[in-house]
Amino acid sequence: MATDQASRTSGDPVALLETIFRDAFGTVLGDAGRDADPLVRTGRNPQFGDYQVNGVMGLAKQARTNPRELAGRIVEAAAGALDAIAEPAEVAGPGFINVRLKSEALAAMLDDFDTPRLGLAPDADTRPIAIDLCGVNIAKQMHVGHLRSTIIGDTLARVMERCGRTVHRQNHLGDWGLTIAMVLQELRDRKADLDALSLDDLDAAYRAAQAANDDADRAKQTLIRLQQGDDELLRDWRKIIDVTMRAVYESFDLLGVRLGPENNRPESFYRDRLDAVVEEFLAAGLAETDQGAIIVRFPDRKRPLIIRKSDGGFLYSTTDLAAVKYRVQELGACRVIYVVDARQRDHFRDVFDAIRLIGWDRLADGDTAQLVHVPFGSVLGADRTPLKTRSGENVPLSALLNEAIDRATTEVRKRAAVPDSPTHDLSDETLASIGRAIGIGAIKYADLSSDLVRDYVFNLDRMIAFEGNTGPYIQYAHARVCSIFGKAGLELDEDLRRLGPYVIREPAEKTLALALLRYPGVVRDVAESLEPHRLCTYLFELANAYSAFYENCPVLKAEGEARRHSRLRLCHIVRRVLADGLDLLGIDAPTRM
Ligand code: ARG
Repeated sequence: MATDQASRTSGDPVALLETIFRDAFGTVLGDAGRDADPLVRTGRNPQFGDYQVNGVMGLAKQARTNPRELAGRIVEAAAGALDAIAEPAEVAGPGFINVRLKSEALAAMLDDFDTPRLGLAPDADTRPIAIDLCGVNIAKQMHVGHLRSTIIGDTLARVMERCGRTVHRQNHLGDWGLTIAMVLQELRDRKADLDALSLDDLDAAYRAAQAANDDADRAKQTLIRLQQGDDELLRDWRKIIDVTMRAVYESFDLLGVRLGPENNRPESFYRDRLDAVVEEFLAAGLAETDQGAIIVRFPDRKRPLIIRKSDGGFLYSTTDLAAVKYRVQELGACRVIYVVDARQRDHFRDVFDAIRLIGWDRLADGDTAQLVHVPFGSVLGADRTPLKTRSGENVPLSALLNEAIDRATTEVRKRAAVPDSPTHDLSDETLASIGRAIGIGAIKYADLSSDLVRDYVFNLDRMIAFEGNTGPYIQYAHARVCSIFGKAGLELDEDLRRLGPYVIREPAEKTLALALLRYPGVVRDVAESLEPHRLCTYLFELANAYSAFYENCPVLKAEGEARRHSRLRLCHIVRRVLADGLDLLGIDAPTRM
């Protein structure tokens, strides 16, 4: 009995309740019940309990019985198992079941949660995942679109790594298409010194080449010669790549994303595989010749996918077919995730369908890999059109980042000048690094916290505000929790389990505890749904729950040692969840602000 009791009170309450209610559904309705999802949700209103089981109504409909009556029978069947962790459950409304945890059970769950993994067990599935991100085009500045792909892709990778997965970050650099051929041609015409090239020179050359439209044919010729392996062209091509990538790596560094040369799988990586792609589609009878080009047709749409042009050249899509094959069959990825601009929706639909036709999504274990496009919207300027500089060009990434850092650093210095502020005694260098963390954090958080497919307006004032659902607000909440430990004479990362059990009595303590316990579920949910904004919303809610707790429940001046220790331990997990959550978003968590 004792061990049963212990295992029944440990772990994630939602998972626990799911098990209990699945069993109860089964007891009442047999297999049909056991297979149904009990739909356990965190209660929105504490008045109605901590959790709600919403799965009864659907089940009653299927079984053609009265939902309230069915809910009553299920509550009865669950009562025994539920007793260890909850007060007697109640049926409400049309057939909801409300569950309120016992406070000792809540304390035990928090105790379990208080480990370095913060309650998040590694996935049972250990197969790798591939994420296509960044995808900068060589010979052009990295702009805000690539910023989004990089930030979102890096976050998804971190979340999956946190779930114990191996993630292959694939930077599909555009280095093998017409753009780079145009620039190459233009620079050769100018007899430019390629060893003394800057990114601005490349940009200028690209614009000049674009303006001289009549040169398109020559650029195409250059591209074909490059793709055929012309030595001299290849040498110049490498120089252009070097210049571009140096700036790209600087941006990665500034952004704090986990990406480097080891993640590069540029278009040219697949160049020797393109012939075979076309051959295999032809051999399988899935491609046909159409006015000299080779195309794949789909049963359900007019638009075919061109995989070889009539001049013999390969396309963006041919490369992507080769890339999916590589990722599934060589890397063994069971999910291949593309974080790419929403405007490429049709492209990925066609590529994925072509892959399914030929069966290259088949894994060695016989399973089918999941191919997903995670589309994202555009970043708009104040005039609600895609962000451009005054002269009408794409805004280079570094300009945005540097402006955010400047603004944040100014604010940090201003605050530090106030005599009793927590940052007053910090060196200028430290203040600058805090400003950098806030500036970058503000941009990243703003990007990740809205629905990905929606366009959003780039508004630095709003992003950098210390109030509202912003990066700085979450960072600030974290810094505030940190300050308590200094005052209590404790180290930030000290193991506080020795302070004794959690004692959860006040409503604000309970709300905070329930919010903390949601964390592992939220992380898994982001890994599944590929929607980072859910993590942002969660962190915002947690920071708010912490504020309410802080206002209502004195920590250092709590009445009695047991209560004081319990509250310190609560602060301790709040701090770690905020820091861990920010880290998943790729955002630093300064300990003072
Ligand atoms: N270079 C492309 C662009 O800027 C993005 C690459 C996306 N990845 C891919 N596998 N197609 O539009």
